[in-house]
Amino acid sequence: MLIRQKKSSDAASHEITPEHVYVNRRQFIEASGLIAGGLLASGMASPAAAALMPKEGKFQGVKEGYHKLGAKDKQTPFEAVTSYNNFYEFGLDKEDPAANAGAFKPLPWQVKVDGLCANPGTLNFDDFLKPHTLEDRVYRHRCVEAWSMVIPWVGIPLAELVKRFEPQGSAKYVAFETVMRPAEMPGQRNAQILPWPYVEGLRLDEAMNPLAMLAVGIYGVPLPNQNGAPLRLVTPWKYGFKGIKSIVRMTFTERQPKNTWNVSNGREYGFFANVNPKVDHPRWSQATERRIGDFFRRETLMFNGYEEEVGQLYAGMDLAKNY
Ligand code: MTE
Repeated sequence: MLIRQKKSSDAASHEITPEHVYVNRRQFIEASGLIAGGLLASGMASPAAAALMPKEGKFQGVKEGYHKLGAKDKQTPFEAVTSYNNFYEFGLDKEDPAANAGAFKPLPWQVKVDGLCANPGTLNFDDFLKPHTLEDRVYRHRCVEAWSMVIPWVGIPLAELVKRFEPQGSAKYVAFETVMRPAEMPGQRNAQILPWPYVEGLRLDEAMNPLAMLAVGIYGVPLPNQNGAPLRLVTPWKYGFKGIKSIVRMTFTERQPKNTWNVSNGREYGFFANVNPKVDHPRWSQATERRIGDFFRRETLMFNGYEEEVGQLYAGMDLAKNY
């Protein structure tokens, strides 16, 4: 058991990932010799930045987007959204991304779009965003580790981007890739953590679903580094690991792309990763979740409560096999 002093920026103890889940993921990584291998001793222990809600630098001209929440869905405070993260490029513990992502430079940034499409190219970040109107959207965010949040994102509907690059008829999927910068991302210096760069993918009809978005901000301001600056995927009906951060490449493909957690541990993590309270993770139940900030666990909803919007994408599929 990991015992440490509580910092003011830490989530309260009841907000932390259930210990059995945390310990199990940690054991999996320890089994591959990472922690003993000195990852945590490699200059990654600076104090967690006390993230304060910025008053300046808000995006302008953002239009109201999709906000369908339940009565019990309250927005998770900015401080928790930015200090309790999974971003293994910056370390394995929840507070590591906030502590270690300070030296990461999200700008200038370029995104390469390639593969089976009529308009491939490498675009500067401004040109990538320019044709689109940013939207505010508040979504539930459910991690495969059985914790959840409610996050107000700022971003672009992914469907608009897909259409803009004109995928060919043979394109069936879109693949995404995270930037590779070991000098700024200490976790990437250790190939045993995960196979780098982090990659993810969606079926094209999933990418075209109106809920899917590429986010550039939270709470009206640009994404903090630990949340995936400057550009990340948000698919709220799927487990959080589909939400690839700091994207530098989008590729249209005919074959199902690889996704990092599936490559790393295919028995436990699939390609679809749809939130499903009836299909347990091999090592823990997915029936309930702990909403960060709540004391009591709550029931997990099918497709994270977005069944009406996305259920038809999976009609006739065996969701226990296609986990
Ligand atoms: N993207 C990259 N590149 N690296 C990661 O380690 N972690 C994933 C996902 N995207 C991850 C990533 C996981 S497991 C989750 S739950 C979400 O990011 C967490 O997003 P958050 O820290 O903004 O809550």
